[in-house]
Amino acid sequence: MNYQFDEVIDRAHDPYSFSGKWGNWAARSLGLDKLPDDAICLQTADMDFKTAPEIIEDLKKVAEHGIFGYSMMDDRYTDAVRGWFHDRFGWDFPAEDIVYTAGTHTAVAECVKRLTNPGEGVIVTTPCYSYHGDIEPNGRVFVGVPMLKDEENYYTVDYDAFEKACAVPENTMFVLCHPHNPSGRIFTPEELTRMTEICRKHGVIVVSDEVHCDIVRKGVEFHPLMEVVGPEGVVGCTAVNKTFNLAGLAMSNMVISDPVLKERFGRFFSLPSPFGIQAVISAYTKGGPWVEALNEYLDESLDYVVSFFHEKMPKVKVRMPEGTYILWLDFSGYGLSDEDLEQKFKDQHMVMSFGRGFDVENGGQWLRMCLPSAHSVIKEACRRIYEAFEG
Ligand SMILES: Cc1ncc(COP(=O)(O)O)c(C=O)c1O
Repeated sequence: MNYQFDEVIDRAHDPYSFSGKWGNWAARSLGLDKLPDDAICLQTADMDFKTAPEIIEDLKKVAEHGIFGYSMMDDRYTDAVRGWFHDRFGWDFPAEDIVYTAGTHTAVAECVKRLTNPGEGVIVTTPCYSYHGDIEPNGRVFVGVPMLKDEENYYTVDYDAFEKACAVPENTMFVLCHPHNPSGRIFTPEELTRMTEICRKHGVIVVSDEVHCDIVRKGVEFHPLMEVVGPEGVVGCTAVNKTFNLAGLAMSNMVISDPVLKERFGRFFSLPSPFGIQAVISAYTKGGPWVEALNEYLDESLDYVVSFFHEKMPKVKVRMPEGTYILWLDFSGYGLSDEDLEQKFKDQHMVMSFGRGFDVENGGQWLRMCLPSAHSVIKEACRRIYEAFEG
């Protein structure tokens, strides 16, 4: 099938959209009550593409069934999840190791609540997608360990600092973001093994958030942590949410195969909607070709924007991510204050994620740009950024 990603869909005004990315929240981040009609929203890891047509067709059948009572997964669901991870990553686990949660934040927060004690520390390597809300409201302490960064903005783990944090007896969990949001790093099997060995040595549980696992650049391989290091002391978090633009259906699947962790985690009872169940089955059994086409489209978007910055705005430091559709942009070359930097985007009605959300102390000169939008929108965004800084 020939998939269509160039269509620009009006998510701000369509009454059936209910989009958070294009709603009041976006307006407020521009300091306005209402989102201007010419706004460009690149702040959220939420795609502006319709999901795969194969999924939409199946969801219409669920709608036509017309009864939306309490719903439960069956073998079709667990077979679909297991099949996807077996076929794409060689990762095998039995059906009973899958724990459904309504979204990945719920998964991480439940791990924090069930597998650590109040007052304990949860390690996160920074900069990082924010897990503060999963950790701090549950009475645990966010322990940030800064990553190393070379001249080319290539991020790696600072193993000395990481081990120092793991050796603190109160720090009992590490949330690994893999692929890493916002740097776009995909950790190698060697890096994954080294981090896990340190955690195991100090009795630190690893929760690996792998929701971006299917969005990878050509020639890059993603390895699920558990497939590399085995199940001991490890929880894997997966979802259709990012891959298929289904976050609104909140369908995440944790994998807990370590019997000790399984016992400590206990039973988790939560019922998804029939739309969510069918979406997972359809995505994981029919969605492969769509994901290949999506990755090709995103390759083109990323190539365009990275070349744009390198050629037209070399003061901005950026590198091609290994995974995700996210660019992590260093604007310090312009020598602006954090506030003036943010204002330049707001003046252009561009909604972006500002870097302090990923690194409170050092993120002020950084921006995260999410690129899962039509090429025409991406090009207009680049034009506005050029006008704001070089025009
Ligand atoms: C790394 C990462 N984890 C988790 C989430 C949230 O996922 P969910 O919508 O499944 O809670 C996001 C959303 O952007 C993310 O980028």
